[in-house]
Amino acid sequence: MKIIVTGGAGFIGSNFVYHMLNKYPEYEIICVDNLTYAGNLSTLQEAFKNEKFSFHKVDIADRNAVFSLFEEVRPDIVVNFAAESHVDRSIENPSIFVDTNISGTVVLMDASIKYGVKRYHQVSTDEVYGDLPLDKPELLFTEETPVKTSSPYSSSKASADLFVHAYNRTYGLPITISRCSNNYGPNHFPEKLIPLMIINALNDKPLPVYGDGQNVRDWLYVEDHCEAIDLIIHDGKIGEVYNVGGHNEMANIDIVKLICKTLDKPESLITYVNDRKGHDRRYAIDPTKIHSELGWLPKTNFENGIQKTIQWYLDNRDWWEEIISGDYQNYYKEMYSNR
Ligand code: NAD
Ligand code: DAU
Repeated sequence: MKIIVTGGAGFIGSNFVYHMLNKYPEYEIICVDNLTYAGNLSTLQEAFKNEKFSFHKVDIADRNAVFSLFEEVRPDIVVNFAAESHVDRSIENPSIFVDTNISGTVVLMDASIKYGVKRYHQVSTDEVYGDLPLDKPELLFTEETPVKTSSPYSSSKASADLFVHAYNRTYGLPITISRCSNNYGPNHFPEKLIPLMIINALNDKPLPVYGDGQNVRDWLYVEDHCEAIDLIIHDGKIGEVYNVGGHNEMANIDIVKLICKTLDKPESLITYVNDRKGHDRRYAIDPTKIHSELGWLPKTNFENGIQKTIQWYLDNRDWWEEIISGDYQNYYKEMYSNR
């Protein structure tokens, strides 16, 4: 089996690469990534030691490069993680989200049709459903919830999903889509909430909480997401969407306080800053379908997962110190200095 994993130098993609190499030693894992600011080859250091792993620096929106690669590799399965993934960046510069998240998806699917790929899997997000109110905890996102987006990021992901459905219906491309809630765990880029707060706390820097800190996200340990995608590409029904989440809703402020407590840092580091534009209030996934059809259940609860994650950042200072010493500094100044 030959599997192209796009975005494999990023957070979830790299975790998926390791998951697949460990679980299926006979599979070839072909990682495709153009190494944007969010892609790190150092994350894949161990994978490079495995002869079943290869890396190709290719932009998924570069039609010629993608077609040449498919001609060479002839993949059985494509799993598309590659994306511009940060909502805040999408608010500053939406057009790159159109190029990668929409055009890149279309190019990958065109190549998948031409080279007879047996399964194209699109890694989507719960953000395509918009948000839920805080005062109706009984409401959850199901696969039938209408798509209704808030940010340029979520709009680009939803647009891609529509193209994926269209390629199934119009050209018969065998597709599946997963829509997962917020992931956390090792290799998470330091601009996202959990790693940013861990790293700032370790450096005794202010912890910038947007708005009133009451926005709710539904957190899932990254390995559980990887297992869900593994199940879907092997046993999921063609043409279907699967929501992925573990009923673990938490307000941002509670997560930040938990990080302070675990690292023995004072809550006085918490600084409320201007809210994100169009900030989604609450996400919450109903995972009934993937549980009943594919038997998936998360294995790591938040208490264990967050401790493992904090420990990973303590044990892997070199990884994140190198990242935050470069361009990240400019990004941080631009995003947070006048907030
Ligand atoms: P990430 O930003 O950490 O990684 C994205 C990777 O894609 C990087 O390695 C980057 O270099 C690569 N990439 C970007 N543009 C590319 C291009 N044009 N060509 C080739 N490679 C390119 O993102 P992540 O958090 O790992 O998210 C991975 C996928 O999962 C995304 O599609 C995202 O929408 C989705 N998702 C993320 C979460 C989450 O909580 N992080 C939850 C649900 C879904
Ligand atoms: O729900 C899935 C989505 O989760 C994925 O599709 C996205 O790719 C991923 O980035 C993530 O999006 P969020 O916007 O929810 O994640 P982020 O870590 O950026 O923010 C989480 C919450 O924390 C959100 O309510 C905004 C808030 N926040 C974030 C940062 C970076 C802060 O309060 N302060 C911060 O400095």
